Amino acid sequence: MPEIIYQGKAYPCQPDETVLDTLRRNGIEVPYSCCAGACHTCMLHCLKGEVSERSQKDLKPALKNLKYFLACQCVPEQDVEVALPDDEDVYVSARLVEKEQLSPTVWRFRLEAAVPIYYHAGQFLNLKNEAGWVRSYSLASLPNEDEFLELHVRRMPDGQMSHWLIDHFSVGMHIEIEGPNGHCLYTDGEPERPLIMVGTGTGLAPLVGILRDALHQGHRGPIHLYHGVRTHDELYLHESLLAMAQQHNNVYYHACVSGDEPAEGLQAGRAADIALGEHPDLKGWRVFLCGAPEMVQQTRKKAFLAGASMQDISADAFTTPEH
Ligand code: FES
Repeated sequence: MPEIIYQGKAYPCQPDETVLDTLRRNGIEVPYSCCAGACHTCMLHCLKGEVSERSQKDLKPALKNLKYFLACQCVPEQDVEVALPDDEDVYVSARLVEKEQLSPTVWRFRLEAAVPIYYHAGQFLNLKNEAGWVRSYSLASLPNEDEFLELHVRRMPDGQMSHWLIDHFSVGMHIEIEGPNGHCLYTDGEPERPLIMVGTGTGLAPLVGILRDALHQGHRGPIHLYHGVRTHDELYLHESLLAMAQQHNNVYYHACVSGDEPAEGLQAGRAADIALGEHPDLKGWRVFLCGAPEMVQQTRKKAFLAGASMQDISADAFTTPEH
């Protein structure tokens, strides 16, 4: 069996085991989140040996050349020596320029990167703090209009990174960022096509970016945005989305509250159920899903059964990265 060499020690792999699994089985703490090749938080540097093509598939060419790879996607066929990434290869420093509480649980962070970051609305960044914790957050900003990178962070009860960001990361401090990553974004060329977006919690962040991008690119077809929360005080962009819907006659904002009696103007129930109930035929629609992983998974299937083509369903690539 091949061995993984990490910090001078050798760890034998079990059959079909990934580099990430071998390291974790041996109690070694390396960052990871989705275990599906999407979030890139498990990126490692291969110092000796070869890694699979699959484990480098979505990486930038410069990182591939330096032999970076995704540990969750690499089942080694020979011994490999690996290390955590060199910060200078992978990360760019960013300064926090604005921090604002938007709801009892959600904060808005605006960052300024030390070098320009070329991204599409809806993509995500990985943030690495001084303790080495790495987590993924979607971008809510629009590259052509915003001079900052905007992220929405929800305080997760057991999420150490969200607590650190909210309680300790203050304006003027720096953090390392990696990215952009992800393929959940607006593609132009079909400005009449109907779009439906369903997001729960801070899954709203990439959808707001995509919605603004669609409008910026002159989208004329209807755009339905469903935001699902448990209690109405979690509708953290309610006023600005109402204003956007008033300004654009092709934008329909649906605020969906599942856990308490909704106030006037809000819809009662889960966002995905309401969206699919109101749009039972999704043939020809583009569908965007972001937020709780189970919601994304189930709604993807239901949207497909309602007629949407699989290639027209885009989803937030990563699961909630709090562990
Ligand atoms: S944990 Fe490997 S890509 Fe997400």
